[in-house]
Amino acid sequence: MIGGTGFLGRHLAAEFVRRGYTLKLLTRRRERSKAVIVFPTLELVDADVHDDAVLAAQLSGCDAVVSAAGILNERRAGDFKAVHATLPERIVKACVKNHIHRLLHVSALGAANDAPSRYLQTKAAGERAIHAGIEAGLAVTCFRPSVIFGAGDSFINRFATLLAMTPVVFPLACANARFAPVFVDDVAAAMVNALTDKSTHGQTYSLCGPKQYTLSALVRYIGEVSGNERSIWELGNGLSRLQAIVMQYLPGKLFTMDNYRSMQVPSICDGNDLEKLGITRHSLESAVLEILGGHRKQARYDAFRTAAGRD
Ligand SMILES: NC(=O)c1ccc[n+]([C@@H]2O[C@H](COP(=O)([O-])OP(=O)(O)OC[C@H]3O[C@@H](n4cnc5c(N)ncnc54)[C@H](OP(=O)(O)O)[C@@H]3O)[C@@H](O)[C@H]2O)c1
Repeated sequence: MIGGTGFLGRHLAAEFVRRGYTLKLLTRRRERSKAVIVFPTLELVDADVHDDAVLAAQLSGCDAVVSAAGILNERRAGDFKAVHATLPERIVKACVKNHIHRLLHVSALGAANDAPSRYLQTKAAGERAIHAGIEAGLAVTCFRPSVIFGAGDSFINRFATLLAMTPVVFPLACANARFAPVFVDDVAAAMVNALTDKSTHGQTYSLCGPKQYTLSALVRYIGEVSGNERSIWELGNGLSRLQAIVMQYLPGKLFTMDNYRSMQVPSICDGNDLEKLGITRHSLESAVLEILGGHRKQARYDAFRTAAGRD
């Protein structure tokens, strides 16, 4: 697996191991990813996956490959292309060279050549590279998740942290951006189901949770559940852009112009492809306590559920 050490990758690796598979995870920094070594049938290997010869040698002997590498921001110009477009090309080449027949690939909802952000444009280029493998005899399946939530995510947890650090009013860019958050374990189970399901060959699946939210509604909800309710100041378009322009130069790049552009595209689905993959979707509400971990305040959460009539 490439990209198996990240948030989705770790959950996916756990699901593969649980179902009896033996895995090899390629990483650029084994030292930083040691947490996954606890799995008994998992090997974590340092490898430069951007080197064709290294990649081909590492994939030798594998029966299938999972491609899940991705970045939200570039450190250097060209990073999006290298990780989202060129790396999938390399992976297809390495699969063909090693006569590996099966390839699963993680893209993103909204990926399109004419998308407004480089993130989404390069994700589309990656999908094209993966589908080009079909002509070479590969059985490929692409997955396009909306924003993914779950234990250790960097979306729900990041907003919970930011809200906790905000004294009174939380300035929110792109407040009307739309998402259908999907549970990480649902994505993982769907991908593992697809591995051996021939009907998924050549297909692309859009993965969404059961409910759509605006970013503003999501942030309010996270505030309520984590006990960090704040007034939300919904920034207009001009101020949202200004916030991105300023924040992209700050350490950590919490919000960039490319993120701003990605959020102009609703990250929602028309139908329910998870059902086609044998998955009953979990709601954010059903998993939020586990996700928020240290942020949660049980008493407030209980009060909120009661007030909202959710019990
Ligand atoms: N999380 C979401 O809400 C979400 C939504 C839609 C789509 N996706 C897609 O799902 C996939 C997994 O996302 P995630 O949230 O799990 O990301 P993540 O936690 O940031 O993990 C990123 C993974 O990509 C690898 N990676 C990062 N930069 C790389 C580079 N320059 N070269 C090679 N590998 C690199 C990392 O491997 P090492 O550091 O170990 O080398 C790591 O395993 C990505 O393709 C992402 O675009 C995620």
